[in-house]
Amino acid sequence: MKNVILIGFMGVGKGSVAREVIKNSSYMAIDTDDLIESMENRKIKSIFEDEGEEYFRKLEKNVAKWLESSVKNTLISTGGGFYKQTNLKNIGIIVLLDSPFDAIIKRIKAHPNAAKKLKKRPLLADLKKAKKLYDERRPEYLKLADIVIDVTKKSADECSKELLKKVKKHG
Ligand code: S3P
Repeated sequence: MKNVILIGFMGVGKGSVAREVIKNSSYMAIDTDDLIESMENRKIKSIFEDEGEEYFRKLEKNVAKWLESSVKNTLISTGGGFYKQTNLKNIGIIVLLDSPFDAIIKRIKAHPNAAKKLKKRPLLADLKKAKKLYDERRPEYLKLADIVIDVTKKSADECSKELLKKVKKHG
């Protein structure tokens, strides 16, 4: 079993889909943001506030190196900017969770913890800037992806089943 790397924009549902995949398969799962928070013993929001984005990106680079050298048979969910790591292809099969920007924002706002979800993501604070980031990143996400899953109007369970089917086919 190769690693599967979930990429996609903030709030698209990488964490929710990962949780369903581990229910429906023998994958173990890790999350790059969770690894960084535990390494630093502080929240992403604080890392951005205290040290700035560049420092956070360096931490992502360290995580990417470690994933390549040491992690196998694992479903890896990533932060929305992790795709920039140049060794992504060496880590595993890249799966993009894709959805239009408006649908992503609608999805976050419909969540019972919407305020918390928005607050913990510094790059979503200004929706105009976030849309610009989305427009810049989406073509890059599509270029990198081995598999694309359109998550719009699908449950996390449906997405996880589609993911497992497509990963199996991909080999
Ligand atoms: C970021 C996405 C966040 C987190 C950080 C930066 C980004 O993760 O890594 O706030 O650059 O898109 P999620 O995609 O899980 O929100």
